Amino acid sequence: MTSERDSVLHSWCVQSEWRAPTIVGGQGARLRDDAGREYLDMSSLAECSNLGHQHPHIVAAIRAQAERLCFVTSAWGAQPRAELAGMLLEKSGFDGGRVFFTLGGADANEHAVKFARQARGLPHGKVITRDRSYHGASYAAMALSGDSRTRLQVDPENFDVLHVPPPYAYRCPFGSDSDGQCGERAAAAVADAIDRHGADDVAAVMMEPNAGTNGIVAPDNYWPLLRELTRERGIPLIADEVMSGFGRCGEWFAWQRHGDQAKPDLMTLAKGLTGAHLPLGAVVVSAGIASALEHQMLYTGLTYCGHPLSCAAGVAALQTYENEKLIERSRALGARMLASLRRMQSRHPVIGDVRGGHGLFAVVELVSDRASRTPLTPWPQMAPPLKALLHEALEQGVSFAARGNLILLAPPLVIEENELDDALSLLDRLIGGMTGAQMGDVEREPA
Ligand SMILES: Cc1ncc(COP(=O)(O)O)c(C=O)c1O
Repeated sequence: MTSERDSVLHSWCVQSEWRAPTIVGGQGARLRDDAGREYLDMSSLAECSNLGHQHPHIVAAIRAQAERLCFVTSAWGAQPRAELAGMLLEKSGFDGGRVFFTLGGADANEHAVKFARQARGLPHGKVITRDRSYHGASYAAMALSGDSRTRLQVDPENFDVLHVPPPYAYRCPFGSDSDGQCGERAAAAVADAIDRHGADDVAAVMMEPNAGTNGIVAPDNYWPLLRELTRERGIPLIADEVMSGFGRCGEWFAWQRHGDQAKPDLMTLAKGLTGAHLPLGAVVVSAGIASALEHQMLYTGLTYCGHPLSCAAGVAALQTYENEKLIERSRALGARMLASLRRMQSRHPVIGDVRGGHGLFAVVELVSDRASRTPLTPWPQMAPPLKALLHEALEQGVSFAARGNLILLAPPLVIEENELDDALSLLDRLIGGMTGAQMGDVEREPA
């Protein structure tokens, strides 16, 4: 058989450096490769396998739907599609709203922007997003993203996108001296951008409500302030919940931590929507946006929008979050993980910051000098000792994800407590083993 190394173009890597196990099976938080080796998954692969691997309820639902009906065009009705839309509207409290299904997160975000612009009657209205955000890798989604890695491929101005600085409290772009102040100033920068361009010219503000894969965890006051200032100015607020939704941040949807008054006008979903058992994304729109679109032609659609197999997987996934109380579990295990990481921080000076997303999501930021917060390497490069740590962890049967100087922890919500503890002990040992010589000037604690 042709090896994957020689036949496939892999994403987000240099092809000649691609080396990864071939996975043939999985169960719960564990994956198994073709050599029979097991890996504990500490990132839910790309923060998407929230329900673990091969969840039997979802596999059974896909099988049952496949036997009934694999496909019907999105122009016609499909039972699991209607059922899933109803469940999403109920869980989000978007009474009178509607759901548009996509294939994943990037196209959900692009469609959210289309709908906001069309509802506002501003086909080229500006969209405000922020630096250090990630909204997907298709062209318009790259333009929406504040991601220096893809900036050469796309000019946000060509897509009428404006970026504002992020609420990155550990390195606050506004020089704030507290998380709250950074949240306030970052929100004020959004208000400023709207006012500068004129509210009549701005079609939407799109933000990740809490945590993002580029390592930002917003201060608590940020989202409520954004909601307030966009409401005051009549600008639709789009919550990109592709990563933060479905329990990852301790709620069905991350904005719900701030109560009903913090509800966005549109919300995009993917990843945890089926727990990655099949590809699916969605845009949930409020009653206001739905009624603005009710008598207009929607010139958009993708062949596989709302695919019945994916929707059946989505229905089963939502039932599983509920039946297994996984949202609550994410909150409890997230607090346990965060406490453990903070203890690690007190032992290892190379850990500059630990931030948690209120569920099973946390970011460990590595520095070469804690006092000055000097990054281990300039963003978005990854330091060789961190690469070595990831490699060694995988050798020892645990898969961690990292970006730049950040270790992103996002295990499946079904992970067992002892599995979580074992993975964190390994991380502790490996961070402790990063030597002074590897780290440059990092001061090491005595053993
Ligand atoms: C916040 C956020 N938005 C959008 C996306 C893009 O989703 P997809 O890869 O399904 O297109 C991602 C993926 O990581 C994400 O984290």
